[in-house]
Amino acid sequence: MSATDTLREDHKQIRRLEKIIIKCYTELYNGTNIPFTDIDKITIIIEEFLDSIHYSREEDSYFPCVASYDHLKQEIKGFMIEHEFSRRIAIQIKKYLKQWKDGIDSREPVARYLKTYSVYLMDHMNKEEAFFDKAESEVLSKEEELDMFEQFRSVMTISKKKDDMIKEIENLENLPWMK
Ligand SMILES: [Fe+2]
Ligand SMILES: [Fe+2]
Repeated sequence: MSATDTLREDHKQIRRLEKIIIKCYTELYNGTNIPFTDIDKITIIIEEFLDSIHYSREEDSYFPCVASYDHLKQEIKGFMIEHEFSRRIAIQIKKYLKQWKDGIDSREPVARYLKTYSVYLMDHMNKEEAFFDKAESEVLSKEEELDMFEQFRSVMTISKKKDDMIKEIENLENLPWMK
């Protein structure tokens, strides 16, 4: 495995989450009763898997390594801005979910921000995957790929957390409203 493959593998899991989010907002718009705890789980996966694991692999290791070649800098800048944008959408989802729990019907904004998040995810990951192909073939050396891969793996708490998060994704996929 290489660092680039690890990020591609993260994306595969994130695409599973994307499907859950699409189904969730569609059902919310349909008036289906979805337990708050299920939506909470989505926001936890966003925070713990996307934010603290996947983005940090990209922002702290992968992007700086590619940028050190003075290559693809514009793309990287764009991805960083999009990460910030996604963090702001996640805050909105949580804000309206809390409001809803507190008794103010916030079905519409929760559904709307979930939808915004899924649109972001699709667009961002498609662009990044094209970027991974370029970074892999144009700049990164085998050694760098391996070093970063080892770095990703060596953070044991992260590997454990990622496994937990994938389990959470699986649990969500098996909920009645997902069928
Ligand atoms: Fe990203
Ligand atoms: Fe990514």
